[in-house]
Amino acid sequence: MANKTKFQAIKGTRDLLPPETELWNRVEQTAREVFGTYGFGEIRLPIFEPTELFARAVGDETDIVSKEMFSFELNAFEEIHHSRSKLLDSTDDAMRFTGYLFETLRAARSAWDSDRIDHTPANRTAVQKLGQIYKRLYEGIADDSALEAARKDPEILNLIGEAQSVAMDILVWPALAALRPEATASVCRAYIEHGMQQLPQPVKMYYTGPMFRRERPQKGRYRQFYQIGAEVLEAITPNQDVTKTIGKDAAVDAEVIEMVMVYFARLGLEGVQLDINSIGHSALDCRRGYVEKLKAALEKVKDKLGEDSKRRIETNPLRVLDSKLESEQTIIEKLPRIGDHLCADCAKHYAEVKRQLELRGVAYRENWRLVRGLDYYMRTTFEITARGLGSQNAVCGGGRYDGLVELLGGPPTKGIGFAIGEDRVILSLQEAGKGNMAQGLDVYIAWMGEKTLATAIRAARDLRQAGFRVELPPMEQKFGKALGQADKLGARYALILGEDEVASGQWTLKTLADGTQGKYNEAGLLEFLRGIWSERERK
Ligand code: HAM
Repeated sequence: MANKTKFQAIKGTRDLLPPETELWNRVEQTAREVFGTYGFGEIRLPIFEPTELFARAVGDETDIVSKEMFSFELNAFEEIHHSRSKLLDSTDDAMRFTGYLFETLRAARSAWDSDRIDHTPANRTAVQKLGQIYKRLYEGIADDSALEAARKDPEILNLIGEAQSVAMDILVWPALAALRPEATASVCRAYIEHGMQQLPQPVKMYYTGPMFRRERPQKGRYRQFYQIGAEVLEAITPNQDVTKTIGKDAAVDAEVIEMVMVYFARLGLEGVQLDINSIGHSALDCRRGYVEKLKAALEKVKDKLGEDSKRRIETNPLRVLDSKLESEQTIIEKLPRIGDHLCADCAKHYAEVKRQLELRGVAYRENWRLVRGLDYYMRTTFEITARGLGSQNAVCGGGRYDGLVELLGGPPTKGIGFAIGEDRVILSLQEAGKGNMAQGLDVYIAWMGEKTLATAIRAARDLRQAGFRVELPPMEQKFGKALGQADKLGARYALILGEDEVASGQWTLKTLADGTQGKYNEAGLLEFLRGIWSERERK
């Protein structure tokens, strides 16, 4: 019996269907246009990366990394690691060692055959050598009577040592990969990998695409969601005194924020609210000093906090400020505020960001609790909310992340950027009644009679070439049925082609809304439709 399983998109993922995808395209196209005018170029990134990249960049203790990543084994690290670690522990028993060596060899060969270790010359040599050593060891200790001797045989001991070191040489990195939960880490990885510090600085890039987080799905929150993000990266030149560029950095922050706000305005997003904050500098005293004070204050009220916040006192006290738990709100309001503890440089930076925003006419609200859920931020953080979204109303989050590129093994580099939740932007536009982008059919070609088919095909091709949306039914239909079908598809016009029309070269165009019709020759028809179209465009 056939399996009757009904396949459905996995919870938290969904299909985006036409005509809604028209709106998605407009939202993305507008981003390309606006970001382009600010000098950003597009970067396209892989959808999975080493798990470790996100752990290092976003932070091991963040929810995104600790609970929400879709991670999978990419290479055979576990198998090989497990058996080769046994090799290291069993040198005093040549027989047992040989058994473990066999296991390691089998794991390595099977991983090699299934491409789960990279086919590098070094790995090839290591796997081959292991095979040879195994054979010699096996022969050396195969004879029971020789076993005692073998245990003390310097040659056997040598082989054991050699096997251990060759086994350790097999490189299985990265072991784990994850579907990207965000793309800032990837952009930084790419900046390093392609030596972009050699390019004229800063490097400004934007990206669009799906991200993955294992969150509990609800309105505006999905497990596969889409972001439109942008990042500005700037290498710090050797001997550069970063305290001297605070004003310039703040101007970059303000321009990036201005760009998102211009973009949202262009889209017609409603109820847009920008919140900003400064969370200081982790390498300078201000953040560390503040976190200590915050921790001490939290310890005092620990009993009144929920489980999550209690845990965060140790792991990430700043994140307590993010809590939405009703019972914690009055407690949080009384906690020490970072704004009162910024060092002189961070305070100067923050003041300058605000001045720059004002210069640009960007309205903002200061929100001292805005700490964001990713570890890489320093100084500026910001979030933008919009109308019509319920509790998941953040449509954009971002901030400065100087030092992240360095943390990932690159040169000292400054960074600032943001990511927009495209799903939420779409929802908000739809809620505001701005989501209907459906572009109906322009012309339905009602043709009848075999002799008219060639003309109908030519008419369809020419109209499509001129940019009209055209439906050409594959089989002839009676005119009544064809007009009914044109109506159903929401066509504006029906082009009626019968044998008379083809013979006289005068085609009939029926306006479906009012039933009026006119006669045109081929060129006249195109001209008429073009005229109507440009009038519509102008409106
Ligand atoms: P984020 O705040 O984690 O920041 O995400 C940015 C935006 O993505 C959120 O404001 C929200 O609109 C959307 N978003 C996040 N999770 C979901 C979800 N499960 N479903 C739907 N939408 C979601 C980042 O990702 C940083 N990389 C932003 C950044 C770039 N910072 C500097 N550069």
